[in-house]
Amino acid sequence: MKAIVVTDQAAGTAGMKLAERPEPQAAINDVIVQIHASGFVPTELTWPSTWTDRRDRDRTPSIPGHELSGVVTALGYGTTGLSVGQRVFGLADWHRDGTLAEYVAIEARNLAPLPGDVDFTVGASLPISGLTAWQGLFEHGRLQAGQSVLAHGAAGAVGSMVTQLAREAGAYVIGTGRAADRQKALDFGAHQFVDLDNDVLEDIGGVDLVFDVIGGEIQKRSAGLIRAGGTLVTIVGPAEARPVDGLAVDFVVEADRAQLTEIVQRVRDGRLRTNIGDVSTLDDAIAAFNSTERRTGKTIISIRS
Ligand SMILES: NC(=O)c1ccc[n+]([C@@H]2O[C@H](COP(=O)([O-])OP(=O)(O)OC[C@H]3O[C@@H](n4cnc5c(N)ncnc54)[C@H](OP(=O)(O)O)[C@@H]3O)[C@@H](O)[C@H]2O)c1
Repeated sequence: MKAIVVTDQAAGTAGMKLAERPEPQAAINDVIVQIHASGFVPTELTWPSTWTDRRDRDRTPSIPGHELSGVVTALGYGTTGLSVGQRVFGLADWHRDGTLAEYVAIEARNLAPLPGDVDFTVGASLPISGLTAWQGLFEHGRLQAGQSVLAHGAAGAVGSMVTQLAREAGAYVIGTGRAADRQKALDFGAHQFVDLDNDVLEDIGGVDLVFDVIGGEIQKRSAGLIRAGGTLVTIVGPAEARPVDGLAVDFVVEADRAQLTEIVQRVRDGRLRTNIGDVSTLDDAIAAFNSTERRTGKTIISIRS
């Protein structure tokens, strides 16, 4: 099968190569999915799991990409809950070969059915950003209606999901980002927008929940804005600044079939919009990932039409 592989961590996306790889075999509780569309988060090339297995042994050449949509073509021993021919989408294991390929072997529990009226391209754009937003807001942040949320990077892949889900849950949403992102963040449902390069973040006063996708100084300054009992949820490294009387949670997104189902239902009924930027083919994917233009929204690789 055709796949994109990486062998050199220092090379980043410039080290990606289109290669011929053996088709994966289904292990216990796996399914094989013929991939129709794949999502890739550029920072995954810095994650140890892209390069080593769970025992920290080199696993290169590895296939990056962890989001997928496609059709089940085979079931492993003992696999239940999904069937051959079923449309699915989901989040592939961090330590196994991923989804920038024609086929992937993946545990069935990492997938959810993809309804027939949802495009494969849309399906592949949802797992990481949708699940991260869902888990950060509702599991780690325990968001309640009437609370206020500072949604950093609100025009980005995760931030646009955070903005929409928080708003739907009855929160007051303050989005942040670059000056050029103001309208996009407001269109996704932010009540108010802070341009981090030109506005003063502290002018917003206190918030109940900070959803941080930026880290560093912005994270520290944001922690200072959290009201007593509030939460700092971050997905970009240890939450250095622990808000007084609050809770800081640094987490990595997990696959969850029930949550994927909730998310795709919201896409179907119009409550949630995806944030897709470029759509490329597998042959053009490496050029797309190495583009010097500013990326806005998720880059999706259409593997099969
Ligand atoms: N732990 C987890 O489970 C998990 C899950 C998903 C994502 N992540 C991480 O979360 C981060 C965000 O992911 P994403 O897919 O949402 O990325 P994205 O689509 O690039 O969104 C990030 C947004 O924040 C903006 N931004 C970043 N730094 C900024 C700054 N200093 N001032 C103003 N705006 C700034 C970006 O603008 P520019 O593009 O102009 O910088 C972009 O619009 C990445 O580091 C990713 O690896 C972690």
